[in-house]
Amino acid sequence: MKILASRRFPGAAWEELRDVDYLEAPLPDGVGARREDIDALAIVGERIDDETLDLFPNLRLVANYGVGYDSVDVEACAARGVVVTNTPGVLTAATADLAFALLLAVRRRIVVVDRAVRERHWRGGWADPDFLGRDVSDSTLGIVGFGRIGRAVAHRASAFGMRVLQHSRRSEGEDWRPLEELLAEADAVTLHVPLTPETRGLLDAERLALLRDGACLVNTARGQIVDEDALVRELVSGRIDAGLDVFAHEPEVPPELLGLPNVVLTPHVGSATAETREAMTRVLVDNVLAVERGERPPNPV
Ligand code: 8YV
Repeated sequence: MKILASRRFPGAAWEELRDVDYLEAPLPDGVGARREDIDALAIVGERIDDETLDLFPNLRLVANYGVGYDSVDVEACAARGVVVTNTPGVLTAATADLAFALLLAVRRRIVVVDRAVRERHWRGGWADPDFLGRDVSDSTLGIVGFGRIGRAVAHRASAFGMRVLQHSRRSEGEDWRPLEELLAEADAVTLHVPLTPETRGLLDAERLALLRDGACLVNTARGQIVDEDALVRELVSGRIDAGLDVFAHEPEVPPELLGLPNVVLTPHVGSATAETREAMTRVLVDNVLAVERGERPPNPV
């Protein structure tokens, strides 16, 4: 099985793949001419659409490094008999941890106070209003999307003594709320839905306006789930706070956010721990090897 990979993925499992070429430049232009020899693509977030698929007439597999596969046109792949796989499960804890880290950082103003210490603005007093955060314990967390990662965040929230509300497509459980109600009731809202045509722009200006004054929005899912312009307006006004790991046009970050004290910004690092990234490679490789053996891969999407 000949694989074209957009990079060398971390961990020992990667060495189990015998025949790998590496992309020199981004798809589709990085390929140059048609590659009839390629059986599988191993990619991370690269756009896979008809234009790219045309370059690989004998492709059997698109193995995506990551749980979210919004960059892959799954229907176009299916129409050509190309299997698509992802790496769910192994990044659940790391992503939930980051969502919680952002929540804690925003509510307790970790970035602002860290900077104050480094810039020697800490005068030994304890009453500086800039250092004053908001409680996490005893507050209400609204979780939008209650799959693996949403539930893992709920687990962490319970341990912090938070009240959890959740919204998902299926209205299940006593803590389920219609989205609008959840937004209006929560002190903090965290997003854990995949990016699909239904969730693109889910938090539009109208829905963002439902958030309580001083509420915190955490996004470790996909930037396009939120109307980013509307979010920027809310954040610039100072009405709400946010912890953002994802953006609509990565790696671009709206410049208006860069100087704001009510926002904590991270560069799409939800799954970025050494252990998790190696585990993701293991899952990707297992999917490739299964297809190579002619078996159904463990994680078809
Ligand atoms: C990134 C992710 O794909 O799994 C996902 O959906 O967003 C992440 O795991 C990965 O971290 C590489 O950027």
